[in-house]
Amino acid sequence: MSERDTAESLMRGMASAIRAHALYSAGHPLAKRSVDGLSAALAREFRVSPSLAIGFLGDDIIVGNTKLKRSASLGGLARHFQDRQVEKLVFSSELTADGLEAIVGVLADRDSRPLQERLGALHVTGCGVGTITADPAPTGDLGVNAAKQLYGTAVQIAEGLWGAAEAGSEPDPDAAQTIIDSLAKAVSQDRASMVALTSIKSHDAYTFSHMVNVSLLTMAQARTLGIHGSLLREFGLAGLMHDIGKVKIPPEILNKPGKLTDEEMGIVKRHVIDGAQILRRTPNVPSLAAVVAFEHHLRQDLSGYPEKIGHRKLNLCTMLVSISDVFDALRTNRSYREGLPAARVRAMLAEQSGTSFEPTLLRRFVTLMGLFPVGTFVRVQNGDVGVVTEEHPSDPFRPQVRLVADADGRQLPKPRLLNTWERDDRGEHPFTVVEAVDGSAMGFNALALMAS
Ligand SMILES: [Fe+2]
Ligand SMILES: [Fe+2]
Repeated sequence: MSERDTAESLMRGMASAIRAHALYSAGHPLAKRSVDGLSAALAREFRVSPSLAIGFLGDDIIVGNTKLKRSASLGGLARHFQDRQVEKLVFSSELTADGLEAIVGVLADRDSRPLQERLGALHVTGCGVGTITADPAPTGDLGVNAAKQLYGTAVQIAEGLWGAAEAGSEPDPDAAQTIIDSLAKAVSQDRASMVALTSIKSHDAYTFSHMVNVSLLTMAQARTLGIHGSLLREFGLAGLMHDIGKVKIPPEILNKPGKLTDEEMGIVKRHVIDGAQILRRTPNVPSLAAVVAFEHHLRQDLSGYPEKIGHRKLNLCTMLVSISDVFDALRTNRSYREGLPAARVRAMLAEQSGTSFEPTLLRRFVTLMGLFPVGTFVRVQNGDVGVVTEEHPSDPFRPQVRLVADADGRQLPKPRLLNTWERDDRGEHPFTVVEAVDGSAMGFNALALMAS
């Protein structure tokens, strides 16, 4: 059977299970048999990938990566979910047959309360719902200061989650959820400010700011894919907790500056298994977080670790988290922030896409980040230095820059705003950004300059 045939028969199974539950009572043999069929079809999907997202967009149904052909029977199912304002259903391999039966029961009844709330009340693990109305409409700028404050709180909470896991107790899922709610809202409202914050490092809190950065970068990517609501928050949580298994690595190995021995490397590699275990036993953490912790060092071609895991399709969230993870580490290893180094990005696009990363997602990420993201210090061709205050929507090479210093690093009496995308009378660009520079070494503070 082709992927599309399997997906279609799965959805037909779901339609008939919902129909059977609408017609018969829960214990009725026909209702039960229809759920068994659906459960078997889902189990087949889980053999390939531990979770499956089903999207309902208008009359279209998308199962995993497969868009189904429209048909009368599936159209009815699409409308069923449309009426209930469900845009996405995500099932994971943790879902039991009983859990599925309960879910189908809820999907079939005519209760008008939001589906998300009713499914939540079932306390079934392995199923998530994304609604179209869960996110408030973007209201514009969050403001650099509010964003910065939120970021600081997030780093503190990340530290608390880490500390709990390190002490052998469970990280507090409520604390995690609360901060993810705020971060998700901030990313939806003002993506540029939140993404800009991920590049401002305080090195003493690397572990915790890395958690927050990966969470933010993952949610920012997910937003560009149209993911929002509860699913967006699940992605954010998975990003936040991806490395939590590292609490089990002895600090002398974790913080070792030089090259690790094979034995030490073996210990480091265990963090993906430990992380999945910690997250699986923490109540109220969606199974996606454990899946992502397990998969985040696997690449598209399944190189990386854990080794010898057999055939599987990486979860979409894993792909986003591993892109965020690699880029955040890449920037951190540099002595100062300079955005994504253009040459490095080009090399990654050429060499690694396909084997390491999903090419389309990687390209989207570069567009999202920009080459000179907001907050970067740059030099323009006459030598003046400034901070990037705005990016051009389609040309990452031509940002808006607030010039603050001359070629010798002397502060200008008054900052000057420059739109490097503007052309002169001859149709040429009089100003071009030539490179990113170390603004903090020159004694400048990007946030202060941007806010002034
Ligand atoms: Fe990791
Ligand atoms: Fe990481």
